[in-house]
Amino acid sequence: MATSAPSGGLFGRVKPLDAILATAEKKGLHRSLGAFQLTMLGIGAVIGTGIFVLTSEAAQKAGPGMLLSFIVAGFVCAVAALCYSELASMVPVSGSAYTYTYAVTGELLAWMVGWALILEYAVGASAVAVGWSNHAVGLLKGLGINFPAAISNADAFMAKVYLAFGAAPSPDLTQAIATGGYINVPAVLIIGLVTWLLVIGTTESARVNAVLVAIKIAALCAFIALTLPVMNMANFNPFLPTGIGNPLSSSGLGVLGAAGSIFFAYVGFDAVSTAAEETKNPQRNVPIGLIGSLAICTIFYLLVASGAIGAMGAQPVQSATGVFLSPGSPELAGRCATLVAGGAVEPLVCSKEALVHVLDTINWPVVGRLVGLAAVLALPSVVLMMMFGQTRVFFTMARDGLLSERLATVHPKFRTPHVVTIVTGIAAAFAAAVLPVGKLADYSNAGTLFAFMMVAISVMVLRRKDPARNRPFRTPAVYVIAPMAIIGCLVLYFSLPLTAKLVLPGWGAIGLLIYFGYSRGHSHVGRGLFEVHELDSDAPPVPVPPMPGAPTPGPNQA
Ligand code: ALA
Repeated sequence: MATSAPSGGLFGRVKPLDAILATAEKKGLHRSLGAFQLTMLGIGAVIGTGIFVLTSEAAQKAGPGMLLSFIVAGFVCAVAALCYSELASMVPVSGSAYTYTYAVTGELLAWMVGWALILEYAVGASAVAVGWSNHAVGLLKGLGINFPAAISNADAFMAKVYLAFGAAPSPDLTQAIATGGYINVPAVLIIGLVTWLLVIGTTESARVNAVLVAIKIAALCAFIALTLPVMNMANFNPFLPTGIGNPLSSSGLGVLGAAGSIFFAYVGFDAVSTAAEETKNPQRNVPIGLIGSLAICTIFYLLVASGAIGAMGAQPVQSATGVFLSPGSPELAGRCATLVAGGAVEPLVCSKEALVHVLDTINWPVVGRLVGLAAVLALPSVVLMMMFGQTRVFFTMARDGLLSERLATVHPKFRTPHVVTIVTGIAAAFAAAVLPVGKLADYSNAGTLFAFMMVAISVMVLRRKDPARNRPFRTPAVYVIAPMAIIGCLVLYFSLPLTAKLVLPGWGAIGLLIYFGYSRGHSHVGRGLFEVHELDSDAPPVPVPPMPGAPTPGPNQA
């Protein structure tokens, strides 16, 4: 049974769920995962640059109040995760939120979600790559190898861009130009390596994931064990130096602003949802895996953040005139360089590798280096998962005719979508080369929050439109949970800094131009073609008779 027939009009093109589900049936994966493996999968995908690096960004936005930010962001993720799981268990095929919305809210909104997911996955991969670069450069430095500053970050480049766009010259910008770099070469290299691994068909095995999870957990446990005993409660005061925050302001400061950024630390749990199809008893195990991995990560994050605040303090840095500086800005980079040049201990908020820096400061430099090594070993797998997610979304969109089908070409030897993978790698490398990690994470969050909101809407719409359909997992109290997810996503989105808030509509406008200029006319659904083949099948799309009310199929229908 199809849930809905394409009816023409702007919102009428819906991809029938049955056509999508035929794909999953062909795949027929063995149900082998239990609650424990799912939880490990979630932790493996979630712990990354967020906690290892963005802790300092969150501290610059909220000071010790970032503890509340971790709770707010974790809560929004938990309610969004419960919505995600219902659709993931009903529509367990590649393409994630893009595919779900195509089946429920139609092609135009699905296109917008797919377009936003590029921000989540590709820009998110860039953010994790920059976090990796910070640790790799720090680790080399610890070994006595000084990677040239000019090619290990883009602070000087950004300062020049700010000046070119009319920022008032300041000593902080001058300092950023004097001490910063122009391109982040290590970040580009790690994206290049991950792209190559994906082209030759590498995916992470459960065993490798388990080892990497153990490494990350061990690093965080060591950090907690060494910092909690030396906590100084005075460091928690003032607790809210920048206040709770106002979602309508442009600064992105305060507890809510930090929650909007630190949300990045939780992204990746969708790996659990998308494994629903391979899960034994998904009704029980998927929510345990999702909520379990989010709960475990939240507890770790709160303990790590408490340790960092208590051991060395986390007050935001202000400009010489008393203004709280924006994290990731060249002004902050310059101000930090000035403070360090003046003999001060580098504040937590200035550090590019927050946890390592705290351990260095409290005289555990060797453990600090080992924590840095753990990040260097484990973060590439997070880059890999995000790039993998991106290639599958691109691939599915191209397969649906919304992007050039040349992008969906499968490599004859490796059987991987190598063209989309290389395109994704090039785009992610460009972003990672010149943008700071916090800005990349904020842009990524803007796209993710939009996609999560659409998923929460889709769950409710589908409950109304197709109540009888089998739901291996049902969101509990959906009319409470889904609205909470929608409101939570909106609050976090509007709490982002102005530039990040503008990235989504700007990116969306480009997306609409492409949709109306190309995709709408080439859409397979618009032309009455529904594919039911899987990634490694090279069968042509299957034509099906038009449904009642469907627009007349035609190659250039617009
Ligand atoms: N949650 C992942 C990270 O923090 C994306 O790196």
